[in-house]
Amino acid sequence: MADEKKCCSCEIQQVIGKPWTEIETPALMVDLDIMESNMDKMMAFLKECGAGVGIRPHAKTHKTPQIANMQMAKGALGICAAKLGEAEALAEGGVADILIANQTVGANKIKRLAALSKKTNLKVAVDSKQNLLDIARESAAIGGNVGIVVEVDVGNKRGGVRTHEEAIELAKLAASTPGVWYAGVMGYEGFAVFIPDFEERRAVADRAYDILFGYRDAIKEKAGLDSGIVSAAGSGTYMFAGKRKGLTDIQAGSYIFMDVRYGTTAGVDFLNSLAVVATIASHPEPEVYITDAGQKSMTQEFGMVSTLPSYGLKVHSMSEEHVTLRPTDDPQRLPGIGLLDEKYAKPAKKPLEVGDKILLVPSHCCTTVNLHDILYAVRNGVVEDVWRVTGRGRFA
Ligand SMILES: Cc1ncc(COP(=O)(O)O)c(C=O)c1O
Repeated sequence: MADEKKCCSCEIQQVIGKPWTEIETPALMVDLDIMESNMDKMMAFLKECGAGVGIRPHAKTHKTPQIANMQMAKGALGICAAKLGEAEALAEGGVADILIANQTVGANKIKRLAALSKKTNLKVAVDSKQNLLDIARESAAIGGNVGIVVEVDVGNKRGGVRTHEEAIELAKLAASTPGVWYAGVMGYEGFAVFIPDFEERRAVADRAYDILFGYRDAIKEKAGLDSGIVSAAGSGTYMFAGKRKGLTDIQAGSYIFMDVRYGTTAGVDFLNSLAVVATIASHPEPEVYITDAGQKSMTQEFGMVSTLPSYGLKVHSMSEEHVTLRPTDDPQRLPGIGLLDEKYAKPAKKPLEVGDKILLVPSHCCTTVNLHDILYAVRNGVVEDVWRVTGRGRFA
C-alpha cells in the first residue's frame, strides 16, 4: 500500500475487523482502550498536581506516528524522539512538535536535522559548542530554525554539560546565532527511575530537579535568557516530577504500554496494554507449553517476559524462537495486568492446546517494539487498525 502511514501489506490489513486471535503470530498488539486510559490517567494526574507540568511523551516507546498524534490530541506539549531517524518518521506521520532528546552529530545528520526543521517544530538536545555551531550553520544555509535545548547532567553521567558556565555559553550562542534559537534545558534522571525504594527514588529525583533548576536559574541570571522548556523525568519518576513547579514537562514514554520491569517498580500506576501474540506451537509433555515467539520478538535485557495469570502458566525459559511455559498454581500477577487478563486470558478456553493463541507480556516495551514492523491495534478483542511502526530501526 502506497500510503506510508498504512501497513504495507494488504494481506495484513485484512485482519482489520476480525478477532485478535486471527492475528498471524508472533506479532505485537496493543489494547487501545487500556492504552488510551493510561494516556488519560497521566493527563489527569498532571492536571491534579496543579504544578503546571505538562508532558512531552517519549516516542522511543512506540515509534508510531499514530500514537504520537493521539498523545498530541490529548494535550501533549510535543513529542520526544530518541534519534534523528525516529524524528523523521514521526514528522512524516504528521507530528508537529518534536524534541530529539539526544545529541545529533555528523555532517550528513546535521544536514538532515536542518531539513527536518522546515517540516516540524524541531528542537534538539545539545551539549557542545561545536555541535551547536554546526547545526546553526546548516540550518541558516537553508532557512531552517532549530530549537536548542541545552542538555545538562543531573547525575545520569550520560550526555549533558557538567558546569553552569558551559550551559550559559551554549544558551547565549543559541540565542545569538542565526539558524537556531534557545528553547530551554533538559536533564533526564535515568539513574533514578528504577530505584526500588519509593522514598529513596523521590529524594534522588528531587535532587536531580534541583540541579536542573540551578542550571535554568544560572542561564537566566548570567545570560538573561528564559528557558521555555525545562524538561525531565520518565515513567519511574513522573509521580515526583509532576509535582515540581518549574518543570514544564515530563518525558515519560513507557507509561502507555507498561512492561514487566515498570510493572514491578513501586508507584508506577498504569495498566499493561502491550503484548506479544504467540501461538502454542508444541505441547510435547503435560507440563510443557512451547510458543512460536521468543527473543526475536521480545527482548530480554530487563529479564524474563511474563504472561497473563488466568492461563495458569509461568514462563520458564526463552530462546530465539521459543518461550517455554509450565503450568503453575502461582502465576506472576503484575499489578497492572488485571484488565488485560480479564479481556484476553479469562475468556480463553483452557487448558490451552496446540494452535491456541496466548499473550506474552514484554519485560521491556521500548526495545521489544523496536523488533516489530507492525503493531496491531485491538479494541474489544477486535483488530481496529494495523499500524506500521515507522520509527522502528530508525536509530540513525
Ligand atoms: C531522554 C529520556 N527521557 C525520558 C526517558 C523515559 O522513558 P520511559 O518513561 O520509557 O522510562 C528516557 C528513557 O530512556 C530517556 O532516555
